[in-house]
Amino acid sequence: MNHNIRLDYPDERESLYSLDEINNELSIIGTKACVLDLNDVSEELIQLLNKQTLSKNEKDKIMDHFLLPIDKLLNIIDDAGRKPHVEGGGELSTTVTTFGYSYPQFYLAEKGVDYSRFDNLHINISNDGTGVDEVLQFVSGKEFVMHQYLPDKKVLKVHFSCADEYTGWIITYNGKNPHIGSLTSASIGTKLIVQVIGPKEWEMKYI
Ligand SMILES: [Fe+2]
Repeated sequence: MNHNIRLDYPDERESLYSLDEINNELSIIGTKACVLDLNDVSEELIQLLNKQTLSKNEKDKIMDHFLLPIDKLLNIIDDAGRKPHVEGGGELSTTVTTFGYSYPQFYLAEKGVDYSRFDNLHINISNDGTGVDEVLQFVSGKEFVMHQYLPDKKVLKVHFSCADEYTGWIITYNGKNPHIGSLTSASIGTKLIVQVIGPKEWEMKYI
């Protein structure tokens, strides 16, 4: 069977394959996944989403299309049962001082690149301890794996794949809760648009 979402427990419990059951499990930490319908996307853009490599200009075209305005981001965060860390959502463009780059970011899984640097549980917080809110759009590819830490210290792994070229995922979580967004198993050409909002500057801290 070909499942496009699967939640694995760290113990003997059976994996979940139903989006509702998975969201119910994740709701305790304010994480939520929804199907992203790409049927309204232009055919030109769909062709770009199907490519394994992209020029800077092509990446910009994809970003321009998918970047969400603050009101949409706030709706998504609210729908996941969270209040944003910064009232009103905070800054739309933020910098991770640990690495010196800014969000929003476009991630494209490329051949021969080691993405294991993402594979450590971490939290994203500012100097004064304010968290960030993260919204990811997974618009092409297979096997993006999100790890989410629960209050009981267990880590759930949720595997996502795009069912076809017109179906993606939109995922939100609290960046102050330990997590991983892993591209290590992702198919070449996997594409994610990641928006991290809140304090202007924040640090990524491994736990
Ligand atoms: Fe992160």
